[in-house]
Amino acid sequence: MDEIAITRGATEALQVMIGGYNKLKPGDAVAYADLDYDSMQYAMNWLKDRRGVEVITTAIPEPATYQNVIDHYTKLLADSPRIKLLLLTHISHRTGLKVPVAEISRMAAERGVDTVVDAAHSWGHVDFDVKDLNSPFVGFNLHKWIGAPLGCGFLYIQKDRLGDIDRHFADEDFDADDVRSRIHTGTANSANYLSIPAALDFHHAVGAANKFARLQYLRDRWVQQVLDVPNLTIMTPEDRRMYGALTSFRIDGNTTRDQSVAITDYLTNEWGVFTVRRGGVTKGEVIRVTPALYNTPQDSDRLARALKAAAKRF
Ligand SMILES: Cc1ncc(COP(=O)(O)O)c(C=O)c1O
Repeated sequence: MDEIAITRGATEALQVMIGGYNKLKPGDAVAYADLDYDSMQYAMNWLKDRRGVEVITTAIPEPATYQNVIDHYTKLLADSPRIKLLLLTHISHRTGLKVPVAEISRMAAERGVDTVVDAAHSWGHVDFDVKDLNSPFVGFNLHKWIGAPLGCGFLYIQKDRLGDIDRHFADEDFDADDVRSRIHTGTANSANYLSIPAALDFHHAVGAANKFARLQYLRDRWVQQVLDVPNLTIMTPEDRRMYGALTSFRIDGNTTRDQSVAITDYLTNEWGVFTVRRGGVTKGEVIRVTPALYNTPQDSDRLARALKAAAKRF
């Protein structure tokens, strides 16, 4: 309990940790990837002015594998020894890729590099404990896969690393050794926060492992039916360590926003399947599919039929 504090979401949690990380000196560098979330990329970019550091960006390999992602980050840190802070996203909201953050964070720590992990899209459907990530700084929300109302999240700061994050806007409500001094929201929506225990009860009643198994099953069911469609690329590898519920696809050659919108409109209007386009991937736009607990295997089957038709049409 003395390592977590409630926030209004993952953005707020990660902003205070990235912005408040006080070990950077001018001349150091920080790094993030194309698949990281936009708001965290902005916060990392801000460090250039705030801390006088160089901001290094990188593109996660496509296609990605467990090993080539680890190798990519290992090379990044070896090539750029001035990197002191690395942003990692546990599950990318762009492609659904589940990044091996535990291995990368361990490797980074061996080089004296801290990681800050965006777990907004993972905890609540991927079954893990924060300690498994090997990172001292992790941001979560509770309004995605835990199902609390919008405006609930939390930050995790490893107890012995609290001093490396500044008090939030020089908070004086709590002592310097109290993690609650690292987020000062002001008058928050406490009705929201009071609903968190009920959301967690529901999550535990279903069971984290059951949720993960069900969601991966729904994901596997549509993906496996379209793996042999020649012009359709699945953005996560067929390696159960590398995805959760979310998986994106690209119909080859359709890399612009307008092309993506045409495909998502087609899937909605002709097939009644809701998908979302996602930009920011270095090699071009993708379309994300996110099954939920209420989806059925028949929904996955309909999506697979729709994608076979879409791949012929676009
Ligand atoms: C990977 C990732 N990080 C952070 C966020 C932001 O989370 P929040 O809405 O809790 O601020 C999102 C939301 O979509 C996300 O997908």
